[in-house]
Amino acid sequence: MTVSYVTTKELQEKREKYVPKGVSNGNLNIAHHAAGATITDIDQNEWIDFAGAIGTLNVGHSHPKVTEAVNKQVEKFLHPGFNVMMYEGYINLAEKLCKITPGSFEKQAILFNSGAEAVENAIKIARRYTGRQAVVSFVRGYHGRTNMTMSMTSKVKPYKFGFGPFAPEVYQAPFPYLYHKPSEMTEEAYIDHMIEEFKDFFIAVVAPETVACVVMEPVQGEGGFIIPPQKFVKAVSDFCKEHGIVFVADEIQTGFGRTGKLFAIEHFDVTPDLMTVSKSLAAGLPLSGVVGKSEILNVADPGELGGTYSGSPVACAAALAVIDIMEEENLPEKAESLGQKIEAKLLDLAERHDYVGDIRRLGAMVAVEIVDHRDSKRPDKKKTADIVKFANENGLLLLSAGLKGNVVRFLAPLVITDDELARGLAILEKAFDHNQI
Ligand SMILES: Cc1ncc(COP(=O)(O)O)c(C=O)c1O
Repeated sequence: MTVSYVTTKELQEKREKYVPKGVSNGNLNIAHHAAGATITDIDQNEWIDFAGAIGTLNVGHSHPKVTEAVNKQVEKFLHPGFNVMMYEGYINLAEKLCKITPGSFEKQAILFNSGAEAVENAIKIARRYTGRQAVVSFVRGYHGRTNMTMSMTSKVKPYKFGFGPFAPEVYQAPFPYLYHKPSEMTEEAYIDHMIEEFKDFFIAVVAPETVACVVMEPVQGEGGFIIPPQKFVKAVSDFCKEHGIVFVADEIQTGFGRTGKLFAIEHFDVTPDLMTVSKSLAAGLPLSGVVGKSEILNVADPGELGGTYSGSPVACAAALAVIDIMEEENLPEKAESLGQKIEAKLLDLAERHDYVGDIRRLGAMVAVEIVDHRDSKRPDKKKTADIVKFANENGLLLLSAGLKGNVVRFLAPLVITDDELARGLAILEKAFDHNQI
């Protein structure tokens, strides 16, 4: 047998030549294998993973139960195509999703491949159900890179610049950002003000009776892990009910235990009509879904929804294993204690560095805002990039976020061991110290 050994440098050069630069890379090394919260590259260097493939790996890399379920399915068949011949995995997963998502009404679930595809389909379904066209998302929201979801997304560069024209009838409503509230306002006054702004938006920008759906991330992900006040989320949900608008919770980044509950919307005492799920649903396999009220989901006629690869049996097998693991390993509870540990380290770093601004979290959805100085709260994108770069050159996979690129976010697998966490936090500390003013 010939053993070919390709070097990191060779692969980096090949990548540069053959893969367009439009796909960015946070880390320039080449993965060889991974388990739990550690990836080993082809040079045998270990990387502690605080990125989890952007929130995809709540159960960790290569969880043995996921691998076993996937292998078993691969042995049986890969893809009959659900609309050609049905299979058990799709049906069982639909049932499971209906059972574990909030809401005591009759539910159904339909499967797709990517997060953006789930959002697109939630909109198709809401439009058909309501007979209305307009779609409302929120400032700082992120819903994907297809034309429709790009239109709903806030950050112009890099997500939208030069990629228009965008989909019509998409409007972005105001969304509260407590850390950057006007300093003279109390929190309570600011929240009430933002609720007024939200309602005024439907006078100034789009009439509610033309709106099919409001799509909201319960915690804004790419926007910088912005956690809205419960009162605001409730006001949005009530407004939707009052005006016959379908309320869609985009749980693609927040779902599956990340925030300390199975779904983030459960923190806000509201029940969405529809929910989009993906990312950690299938532990790294491409799978997404729309789940919610049967009354809404069942409105489209046969052939109007779906897609060639939608609900791949292999991904469904992984997802069914993930849902079992969530319960067996008590991952939502683990998320809370993981979040507390990361927060404690950030509070410690804040004592030494004036550039550490807001530290916020819901469960293990933790973020820290990097600013010029905490008195000014002025975003510091450069320092954020330096911290993330240092981490990615020194053994820690770390991501930034935020409309202004000044948020470091944490999406470590919820199964991370104490040792992996300690090693990761030690590198994080070095990255912060390295960036001392
Ligand atoms: C909240 C949210 N919605 C939708 C998407 C799009 O998912 P995908 O990249 O799988 O299309 C993402 C991806 O980051 C997301 O965070």
